Amino acid sequence: MKINGTPTRTIWPAADGQAVEIIDQTRLPHEFVTVRLETLADAAHAIKAMLVRGAPLIGATAAYGMALAAKANPSDLALTVSYNVLHSTRPTAINLKWALDEMIKALGGIPESDRVAVAWQRAAEIADEDVAINSAIGDNGAKLIKAAWDQAKARGATQVNVLTHCNAGWLATVDWGTALAPVYKAFDAGIPVHVWVDETRPRNQGASLTARELNWHGVPHTVIADNTGGHLMQHGMVDLCIVGTDRTTRLGDVCNKIGTYLKALAAKDNNVPFYVALPSPTIDWTVADGVKEIPIEERDVTEQTHMTGKNADGAIVTVQVTPDGSPAGNWGFDVTPARLVTGLITERGVCPASPEGLATLFPEHA
Ligand code: MRU
Repeated sequence: MKINGTPTRTIWPAADGQAVEIIDQTRLPHEFVTVRLETLADAAHAIKAMLVRGAPLIGATAAYGMALAAKANPSDLALTVSYNVLHSTRPTAINLKWALDEMIKALGGIPESDRVAVAWQRAAEIADEDVAINSAIGDNGAKLIKAAWDQAKARGATQVNVLTHCNAGWLATVDWGTALAPVYKAFDAGIPVHVWVDETRPRNQGASLTARELNWHGVPHTVIADNTGGHLMQHGMVDLCIVGTDRTTRLGDVCNKIGTYLKALAAKDNNVPFYVALPSPTIDWTVADGVKEIPIEERDVTEQTHMTGKNADGAIVTVQVTPDGSPAGNWGFDVTPARLVTGLITERGVCPASPEGLATLFPEHA
């Protein structure tokens, strides 16, 4: 996507070929800062501290992390250690393991002297594949927004309203995004789309990142408190919901940012279509029941007890919002059962959230 006319990805090889560069997403929306990752430790830190985040981008960063690790030591033992270091950074998004497995597949069985070049090449392919997949998701999902717009227009509406949760835009991927790719494609095709942006406490990925990128692209949007969606749906102010996912099971259960489940329940109660946009590397074919089997990240409670933002003088400040001594809990993700999901928007098309639905698009896994 473009920032002020400049095509920008979230991760790219440095010009000197010795590192990769990323946007430090902990500084957004107020500051645009890029960071150079030179080592395995740099890549692991970037994922763990959420300088990069979002399932597909976590995967791409891990792939480049393996390339940086191979540069330092391409031995089998070093690659195994690197795999484990990167794999332990965040537990929920399956793209992390998928990308690491892809790197091991590419590097296993080839001479150590070839590994650095092959690792860089495979990491770059994983990044490019993510862009192509998300662009196709955008094309497939834009048709749903177009259909919703046709219906809204027939009722006399002047725009089609999409509600999204967390950030599943281009900042969460290498480019395009998953849930927001259909929005960008629809907007670029002239459809008057407006996005309700859930703030997404505790880390506010909606307020800080989704709003930031929609704003860069000129897409009309409104940031709302996380508890607002049900009210909007009751009043006919949401035509469809589109969210991303960090891991979707072979039965179609969808794990995504905490609060997604509540939006899906409200959507079901109000007959609002609830779609999940997902690249195929986000499907965990080894898992059936998402609620029982997907590990849910529990993060530092200071994310809950404190908030960070810009004060009137333009300084970035962090303030405590809970009383001293009140315990807090901070689960990062929840699971929306397949029965609440209208459809899965993938790079191969849209299917029901069910084993049969997934089998129609991905018969090789059926
Ligand atoms: O904790 P985060 O910011 O990594 O969580 C991101 C999300 O939950 C996204 O919605 C998900 O990764 C889908 S992204 C394309």
